[in-house]
Amino acid sequence: MSQSVTSDAAPADLLPYVESDEQALELVRLVDWARLPRHIAIIMDGNGRWAGLQGLPRVEGHRAGITSVREVVETAARAGIETLTLYAFSVENWKRPRQEIDALMELLKEYLGRELGTLLEHSIRFESIGRLDGLPEDVQEDVRSAIAATSANTGMRFIIALNYGGRTEIVDAFRAALEVARNGDFDPAELDESWLSNYLYTAGVPDPDLLIRTSGELRISNFMLYQIAYAEIWVTSKLWPDFRRADLLRAIVDFQKRERRYGAVDTGRG
Ligand code: FPP
Repeated sequence: MSQSVTSDAAPADLLPYVESDEQALELVRLVDWARLPRHIAIIMDGNGRWAGLQGLPRVEGHRAGITSVREVVETAARAGIETLTLYAFSVENWKRPRQEIDALMELLKEYLGRELGTLLEHSIRFESIGRLDGLPEDVQEDVRSAIAATSANTGMRFIIALNYGGRTEIVDAFRAALEVARNGDFDPAELDESWLSNYLYTAGVPDPDLLIRTSGELRISNFMLYQIAYAEIWVTSKLWPDFRRADLLRAIVDFQKRERRYGAVDTGRG
């Protein structure tokens, strides 16, 4: 461990992972470790453009994006983030060419096959949100078996959004809730925000505090529409395959400079 690290509260697990990266090490000193975002959600964007800039097929951008996924998952887990959600495949992504969809599914399977050891090593609990049933059988099997293999883990919850849409999630929540209501006494006056939250894919998971989007686009793209009501949004022009541990730490440092008011006023400033 570097002697120059002054942030005593930085997780011991993180320091060996950042010590060879000067920029990340500098950012580790700036993080307030007592005020981490509990849940970070990321819209990974720019894989296609990254590939185009290198003169490569789009699929190579997704392949390079896996390196960023691995690095971000490990950094977040070592940093002590409670929940990390990555938007990997949306309900709209079925409109892409068949070859690209197939390649994305293959990459996901490859990732799960290769990374299970890392997930177990860091006690990461893997989960998915979205219409899993709509994915190819073999992908469903791999996702379900990674979920089962990591279900007893007590560290970071790592959620992949697959065949996910924010509006679809709200529709699915209403379907499930109305099914329950049909079979019992239900007073519409009882319907409130926490009741509805219990029917979302993310039931029991705290809402994201920090939403990161790469590639500079200022869009939500149908991601966690209900849950991001009060999330701080942080956008970087970096393309996803270029996103590294230092970028995640920078987002956390910037998040901590924001004043979160949840619609109230800041009475401390008069
Ligand atoms: C957006 O880039 C990225 C995606 C639609 C897929 C993200 C998938 C991965 C990083 C690989 C698999 C994921 C996991 C979690 C193992 P884009 O293709 O829309 O880029 P563009 O806007 O530049 O075209």
